[in-house]
Amino acid sequence: MISFDREQQIFHLQTEHSSYLIGIFAGKCLLHIHYGRRVEHCADMFAMMDKPAESRYDWNPKCMELGEQFALCEQTLELPTFGDGDYRSPGFHGEYADGSTVSKLYYTGHRIFAGKQALGELPSAYTEAGDQTVTLEITLADQLTGLRAYLYYTVYPAWDIITRSVRYENGGTAPILLKKVDSAVVDFDRMNFDFVHFYGTWARERQMERRPLFYGDQSVDSSRGASSHTQNPFVCLSAREATEDFGEVYGLNLIYSGNFHAGAYVDTFGKTRLYIGINSFDFSWKLDCGESFQTPEAILAYSHSGFAALSHRMHSFVHKRICRGQFRDIRRPVLINNWEATYFDFDEEKLVKLAEKAASVGVELMVLDDGWFGHRDDDRSSLGDWYEHRGRLPGGLEPLVERIHALGMKFGLWVEPEMISEDSELYRAHPDWCIHTAGRRCSEGRHQLVLDLSRPEVCDYLIEILSRLFSRVSVEYIKWDMNRNMTEVCSAALPPDRQREVAHRYMIGLYRVLGTLKQRFPHILMEGCAGGGGRFDLGMLCYFDQIWLSDDTDAVERQYIQTGSSYGYPFSVMGAHVSACPNHQTGRVTPFHTRGYAAMPGQFGYELDLDKLTEGELEEVRQQIRLYKELAPVFHDGTFYRICSPETDWKTVWEFVSPDRKTVVVEIFTVQAQAAAPMERFCLKGLQPDALYTDRLTGRQYWGDVLMHIGLMRARKQDYDGEMLILEQTAAGAKR
Ligand code: DGJ
Repeated sequence: MISFDREQQIFHLQTEHSSYLIGIFAGKCLLHIHYGRRVEHCADMFAMMDKPAESRYDWNPKCMELGEQFALCEQTLELPTFGDGDYRSPGFHGEYADGSTVSKLYYTGHRIFAGKQALGELPSAYTEAGDQTVTLEITLADQLTGLRAYLYYTVYPAWDIITRSVRYENGGTAPILLKKVDSAVVDFDRMNFDFVHFYGTWARERQMERRPLFYGDQSVDSSRGASSHTQNPFVCLSAREATEDFGEVYGLNLIYSGNFHAGAYVDTFGKTRLYIGINSFDFSWKLDCGESFQTPEAILAYSHSGFAALSHRMHSFVHKRICRGQFRDIRRPVLINNWEATYFDFDEEKLVKLAEKAASVGVELMVLDDGWFGHRDDDRSSLGDWYEHRGRLPGGLEPLVERIHALGMKFGLWVEPEMISEDSELYRAHPDWCIHTAGRRCSEGRHQLVLDLSRPEVCDYLIEILSRLFSRVSVEYIKWDMNRNMTEVCSAALPPDRQREVAHRYMIGLYRVLGTLKQRFPHILMEGCAGGGGRFDLGMLCYFDQIWLSDDTDAVERQYIQTGSSYGYPFSVMGAHVSACPNHQTGRVTPFHTRGYAAMPGQFGYELDLDKLTEGELEEVRQQIRLYKELAPVFHDGTFYRICSPETDWKTVWEFVSPDRKTVVVEIFTVQAQAAAPMERFCLKGLQPDALYTDRLTGRQYWGDVLMHIGLMRARKQDYDGEMLILEQTAAGAKR
């Protein structure tokens, strides 16, 4: 899977369908040769690839150590630095004690080993026995400054995934200022690609945008202290003509939850540099002598057969090698959350009433959301005071939990530990524990401030206080919320020359808090949340079993959000609930069954006052829960296909095929009805062509090849209508 051709000086990393080739030029410089479709032959690669060592333009400065005619800006590079002739966005930029910013990181050695190592304080993808993962570590060094870079590449053959990260070590005699430390850079000799990214805002996360590359830099980023609602670290580079089932597509993601950037830089020669890493804007890190700095890990996926195959690779990798712990492979309980049912207006009796009704229709977990602590009657106070609101829960949480358990339900609790209200005991005791800039008034978001998790003692305090809470109260689920982004980013605990480290140190602190709690309480199911999907990323998924996808529970808008999210993430990590109508975010009224179908493929639950439902609707809830329990393995372990997209069509069609291809669930949503609408055809995918599939509802039978190549017919029905088709295989290999 990873080989080194000593004579050619070429590393060859191979997954089942892709090859990644790196060459050592002149014994020093790492050139990037190829990332894309798998090749078997790499002898004479430099010659065959027509890689010129001779510059073709007088104008381009030559890097004399590498040859009098060698211009870095004409090459595809593996770890591009700055200062000796490459003018593209560098993968590394640093400043040395003498004020210089020139780095020359040259090859000094490498090792190849089975498996993969952990990344110190940062979360990373893991391996399991049988994965056949192999890691390549290449060491580069700058003789003048003593800086060393360790490049890590881990190959997951069956997933067609390669992970990359870099560790920098200061082996010199003076501190080095790290200013740009990308996790992965991939150079291409062409620019005929589209850049695909997922933008949004609160309640409208991960809308797909696809546009052709242009000369210059096109990038997305976050400087909010969280990966954010506004952009997601998952981006793609696709062939201009790529579709769901055709063409080359590269996917890039970062196992990180803080400030990031990801982009494609097209230079004057039409070469493209794809990059991802910690956002270099407003970042620096002082690396003292002997210290090292580990970048977050990047995930690289490649498909030569369109977006669907790329998504399938990401889905199973995220599900099986990012997500972890005892909930990974089991069906999670169907929950009811009281937030949209009561907001802050609840007491013990009201909660128990909601739970009783929920238990009677088959709900398995009751989640108590915001407002149970301190004196939190609205969102102006008490974050930080993680003890019961005695006005609402006079006996504390224990009697409530007992009553919930007596109903045969599990109990879950909302917390927002990273935040602090000015009106809180915690703030009064530790006013300097929030992120703030001395002399400047703190901006407030939702009337709250951000705790300074770059300070180890603040993290220790959180671990301690939450451990006590989770030990005292018998919770089986935690919703971990985070409802504002950072501003005035400085820490009272760091010297001036380390202030630009705060946002990254915060992430390291947060990961320690989450990792310790996860280790101490492995039986607690954890759902991440950041005002919905404001931190929906691979870093969080190393700790949270699932993430509340969006505060927008409208069944129509959810089709866009879930479709957009599905490019890089599986449904098994998306929290999705049925809520009341008119919808609280959009005011839209959608049929109850549509709301059920839209939420069902995710981690399913309800978030409404069940007392307001009619008997008929309650019966629907019972049926939805029964169906969900049966179909969850198809949604979460099966293969997902985007058949029709709400972006480009009047309908959304999602298809889920069970791992044995015997059960197929098709969901068809009419986004907008039309008068005199024609019947339109769409084809299913991933079926067994020679198998007969029976529609569970109508008894109609279809051959697999007919469903895949001729398809089904539907017309626009009425606005927002939803339909679920369950097709079951009745005969495989039967003769027609
Ligand atoms: C934002 C979350 O996304 C909501 O689901 C809810 O938990 C509120 N916070 C509570 O304040």
